[in-house]
Amino acid sequence: MDKLSTLSRFKASCPFLGRTKTSTLRNLCTSTSTRFPSISLLTERATNCPVMGPALSVRSKEIVAGYASMAGNSDIEQIHKEKGVNIPVDASVEMCPHASAARAAARMADDLAHAAKGKEISSKAAAAAGCPFHKAALEQTVKATGVAPHPVPVSTASTSVSSSTRTGAYDYEAFYNTELEKKHKDKSYRYFNNINRLAHKFPVAHTAKVEDEVQVWCSNDYLGMGNNPVVLETMHRTLDRYGHGAGGTRNIAGNGAVHLGLERELATLHRKDAALIFSSCYVANDATLSTLGTKLPGCVMFSDKSNHASMIQGMRHSTAQRVIFKHNDLEDLENKLKEYPKETPKIIAFESVYSMCGSISPISEICDLAEKYGALTFLDEVHAVGLYGPRGAGVAEHLDYEAQLAHGENPDPIPGSVMDRIDIITGTLGKAYGAVGGYIAGSDDFIDMIRSYAPGFIFTTSLPPATVAGAQASIAYQKIYLGDRQLKQVNVRETKRRFAELDIPVVPGPSHILPVLVGDAALAKAASDKLLYDHSIYVQAINYPTVAVGEERLRITVTQRHTVEQIDKLVAAVDQVFTDLNINRIKDWKALGGRATVGVPGEDDVVEPIWTKEQLGEETGTTPKTLRDGEKDVVDPQGVFVARSRFDHLLGPISGPLRSGYQVVAPAVTTNTTTTSSAASVVPKTMKTGTKLMDFAPRARDIPVPPPSKLSAVA
Ligand SMILES: Cc1ncc(COP(=O)(O)O)c(C=O)c1O
Repeated sequence: MDKLSTLSRFKASCPFLGRTKTSTLRNLCTSTSTRFPSISLLTERATNCPVMGPALSVRSKEIVAGYASMAGNSDIEQIHKEKGVNIPVDASVEMCPHASAARAAARMADDLAHAAKGKEISSKAAAAAGCPFHKAALEQTVKATGVAPHPVPVSTASTSVSSSTRTGAYDYEAFYNTELEKKHKDKSYRYFNNINRLAHKFPVAHTAKVEDEVQVWCSNDYLGMGNNPVVLETMHRTLDRYGHGAGGTRNIAGNGAVHLGLERELATLHRKDAALIFSSCYVANDATLSTLGTKLPGCVMFSDKSNHASMIQGMRHSTAQRVIFKHNDLEDLENKLKEYPKETPKIIAFESVYSMCGSISPISEICDLAEKYGALTFLDEVHAVGLYGPRGAGVAEHLDYEAQLAHGENPDPIPGSVMDRIDIITGTLGKAYGAVGGYIAGSDDFIDMIRSYAPGFIFTTSLPPATVAGAQASIAYQKIYLGDRQLKQVNVRETKRRFAELDIPVVPGPSHILPVLVGDAALAKAASDKLLYDHSIYVQAINYPTVAVGEERLRITVTQRHTVEQIDKLVAAVDQVFTDLNINRIKDWKALGGRATVGVPGEDDVVEPIWTKEQLGEETGTTPKTLRDGEKDVVDPQGVFVARSRFDHLLGPISGPLRSGYQVVAPAVTTNTTTTSSAASVVPKTMKTGTKLMDFAPRARDIPVPPPSKLSAVA
């Protein structure tokens, strides 16, 4: 008998169960409490019940006591001896089923105790809503304490029980419930874990309970720039000078020097005339595509099938016709383009790195088609900026690596380069740059047109100055420091290799994304939960509609700050969870004919990465080394110097060590392509003072272009 039918038996005696719809009960049973992850929403609610609350408390104490008595038993050593159990010195709780069950039980007991703390208000509410048990319990409390309960409005008694007082009116609660029910049914209901990433312990976070720490393996703060010390320093200084909020829209009091400075930084990054920042790249994509698609007469938009929701929404919000082409399929795109006259306005919208499968688009070839058929190119580099290219401008820059590197901080485009051929580049400040916000970059008139027409840009408060300055510091730092990008790729490669060794299916791709195929929604959620609760590893499950049904996965992001030991632990934990839950390995997918490009007969399961060995410094022996537990991460002094100097005119010059416990490590060897480290001070010895490369006050075209030798010294 399942949980639900057991509950139904009590409907007659419990007013809550009696009044609550079966669908609501089902939701409560199957949903994890967001505040107390080891219990369901129904159990959380039951802790407020005068009948169930004490029963649950007694039962959980019994379970914990059972384990505790066993753990405290001196015979335990004897049992281990008899059974031949040798406990290694570095043994962890996860290795013993009894110990990990005891920990899970203790966690549940803790959660139940915390949940029961909110009891009073809910009890009053439930009593007010007519529960005889709560009423009796409250009367007893009043008798004992002499304190009368405050009246509680009925609507707060239960958010799941329909509480409409509008007799004869539309049942809004039922509507919400039906919509949610659909999500549960098709397994697309989203669970949000409570994860609090700790700035000084990256990549570690605490969960709902501050003492419970987990390793984060799915954040899009791809380089940990959200806590880079020069970024934090810049933010603190800006906050002290300009306060918190921007104070208005860009048009009304919310347009400051930091906003203009960031836009100039971005324009230079992509070697475009201009850039425009938005609250997020979701907004940037939506606002830009909807404005262009509506304004361009008779516009047709060609959209890659795997495009992000922000682009899809932007196109839907426009009046343009939308044509979808198969993912990264040039033949299909050309066949579709060819159906329209060359003079018809067209936009090809696509991404460089597709974040759920890790594929990379054929950017150059799409530019060829755009030229041939008279289309604009709109490239989303959200998952690439900061991570690809010698200065972190993205995949379009990476494709001309040597030429772009040699071009240094010259703001002018390299004619005919892939980045130059793209008309519109969009990016985020919220992933590799570790902040929040999005942007577009392109020609002067294009940017001015969007600035003048796009409601998503015009009618909203602009980003706070400290956030904007922090983002600029982050970009400036990553523009000249290659080590983070290189080490990230090294760690990704190593983790992929280790998974392949264990036959764990990783969707093959040339990028930093590491999607571990699970192939079933419930199983993916179970694997994610098991990693979190049994191994203190947080990897979110990715289910439909983000990926196709049957292609559910764990999307792992490896950073340059994950250590050797953390990678070891991740690989072992995923392997264990695959065994525990009997999840398909590569050989199983092969036997089934393949899934999501894994184990497809005749296809290679390894794709050549986009970063070459030479770009990673392997040929010169300058590849950065993976950190070990306890080692400080590298903070590049040149990067710090350059990021600080961006704000000299607004915040005043600053030198000396960074606050915080970060050690600043100087490059021992600096070449055009890589940097290795040894201890030194913040002030870069290789950086010539007076270098004007990084002065962004003037317009891009006014920036003096230094001789090539200086360019390569800082690029
Ligand atoms: C491809 C792509 N474009 C745009 C966005 C939106 O970016 P933001 O988080 O800045 O809104 C995302 C977000 O995940 C994305 O994956």
